[in-house]
Amino acid sequence: MSDTIFILNGPNLNLLGNRQPEIYGTETLLDVEKQCQKLAGRYNFNIFFSQSNAEGQLVDWIQQAQFKAFAIIINPAAYSHTSIAILDALNMFEGLVVEVHISDIYKREKFRHFSYVSNRANKVIAGEGIKGYLLALEYVIDNNNA
Ligand code: DQA
Repeated sequence: MSDTIFILNGPNLNLLGNRQPEIYGTETLLDVEKQCQKLAGRYNFNIFFSQSNAEGQLVDWIQQAQFKAFAIIINPAAYSHTSIAILDALNMFEGLVVEVHISDIYKREKFRHFSYVSNRANKVIAGEGIKGYLLALEYVIDNNNA
């Protein structure tokens, strides 16, 4: 069984730290990656951490995860609310899926309340800031039945 966890990030999250800091905070995606690597390392898990603004690239990574990872943690960003392609790819993945949102999408504009990805996610974490990624990691590590 794989000891790898994919952590995937959707559009505009490359600008985390500068992007609407009043909503998303001042820490960068590199800060998030470092914190995730540190936590996973403590439990001897490997992380593949990546970000893309392109929907197709996210679909490609999800497809690859089938052969490489036991869990996917994904912040699909705006694609959460629009992408059946990402949902379809996640539906083919047999491991754990955790959907993370830094902000509380349920307390924001109405168009953010619905997420296609939530249809597949084993767990959704929203509104915990970047700590949500660490909570997601703890969840997949605790529920890994390799
Ligand atoms: C987000 C919430 C989405 O609605 C938004 O489009 C994002 C980020 C979050 O992490 O809070 O880009 O996924």
